[in-house]
Amino acid sequence: MNAVILAAGLGTRMKSKRPKVVHEILGKPMVEYVIGAVKGAGVEHIILVVGHKAEEVKSAIRSDVDFVLQQPQLGTGHAVMVAKESLPDEGEVLVLAGDTPLITSQTLDNMVKYHREKGYAATVVTALVDDPTGYGRIVKDDGGDIVRIVEHKDASADELGICEINAGMYCFDVKKLKEVLGSISNDNAQKEYYLTDAIALLREKGYRVGAFLADSHEVMGINDRVQLWEASSIMKDRVLKKHMLNGVTIVDPNNTYIGPDVKIGQDTVIYPGCVIEGEVEIGDDCYIAGSRLIDCKIGHRCNVLNSVIVSSQVKDNVNIGPFAYVRPESVIGNNVKIGDFVEIKKSIIGDRTKVPHLTYVGDAQIGSECNLGCGTIFVNYDGKVKHKTVVGDRVFIGCNSNLVAPVLIEDDSYIAAGSTITDNVPKKALAIARERQVIKEGWVDKKFNKQEDN
Ligand code: UD1
Ligand code: CA
Repeated sequence: MNAVILAAGLGTRMKSKRPKVVHEILGKPMVEYVIGAVKGAGVEHIILVVGHKAEEVKSAIRSDVDFVLQQPQLGTGHAVMVAKESLPDEGEVLVLAGDTPLITSQTLDNMVKYHREKGYAATVVTALVDDPTGYGRIVKDDGGDIVRIVEHKDASADELGICEINAGMYCFDVKKLKEVLGSISNDNAQKEYYLTDAIALLREKGYRVGAFLADSHEVMGINDRVQLWEASSIMKDRVLKKHMLNGVTIVDPNNTYIGPDVKIGQDTVIYPGCVIEGEVEIGDDCYIAGSRLIDCKIGHRCNVLNSVIVSSQVKDNVNIGPFAYVRPESVIGNNVKIGDFVEIKKSIIGDRTKVPHLTYVGDAQIGSECNLGCGTIFVNYDGKVKHKTVVGDRVFIGCNSNLVAPVLIEDDSYIAAGSTITDNVPKKALAIARERQVIKEGWVDKKFNKQEDN
């Protein structure tokens, strides 16, 4: 089974510098949802037709698809003509638009089954909507087969009254589609080659075309940003319900945003204000509140409060925040504490180490059971290059210390508070790198020449 997804159009109504199909829903480009639904329906070979800002569309896509370039963009029928050579000579092809992200694999699956059972040359997904403005209208014969599809701009007054619309998703017999593709003309209101004209052409050849009625939510096409928001709300609810039914507590679904690829374990509680997007995996029994988690893995029994974690791994029993920032390529070990106003960048933190407050850890490797005092700074940048700091196990770093990289702090050593460490510290040593304290008795009176009161 093959699929062609049309994503070459301009998307004028989005009023955007970016192509429409890369606009995101819960952190994922809308066209990726269409690709996902098609894949979920068992389609292996997907052809994505790109054109307007093709490079931008291509670079936004992570899924494995073949790209075909449509240049210039002369309509949906023209887009399929461009993909024709990449299709086999026989079998079936699904054709979908890249701007209908709410479609599900289940519906596509049912549509294909229906298409086969009825032996249609083409099956069109349709929906009954209250306001059909902008959509193609389905014109049927007395037996319920589709005679033709008429675009809104070409429709007569009678046809405009039809509330069954074309969802822009089709299953075609490839051979029969190829027979009629070349006959599509652009003799219409928009001077475009309409794919929808293939339907009437198939009928003229004596083939039958069926309608598969779907839920109107699933076929919603996104043309402007109001519809983008509407689709996002529907998708958001779908995702949240799935997690709740899987055993995750979502305290306030109105204020929680979870992307479609996020996995969450049982008995984890998600408090309001969370934005969790991309490839995220969260274990069981976690408590996440007011945080932004992007592309990261969180273990079991972790608490994350008002923090940001990006492209990093957090193991089990970890407490993060409030107000911590874990930046990409960091690994936080088991039973670690990352406290308030702590930034961790590209660093590995060993098990049971504590970084409780006001600390910057950058380009570091820290062993287990260390304690980093308040205000510890890993000085990783010399103005030109970043350098690495290595800290062993059971190291105690006093408050307000600077570790100037590259530097090695060996196991079981101590660093005195307020030190600026520029040289390696050997095992079990104490490093003090600051001026000794000096006391100047009576200094204040001398300085200000105060008279003793008699
Ligand atoms: C299309 C259908 C309409 C249907 C509606 C459902 C046609 C002629 N009309 O209208 O019957 O009700 O979808 O949402 O097909 N595209 C290309 N190349 C082009 C033009 C468009 O790849 O040259 C892509 C667009 O990027 C988009 C999709 O095709 O993803 C649909 O195009 P759009 O212009 O949105 O079609 P509609 O006017 O919505
Ligand atoms: Ca559309």
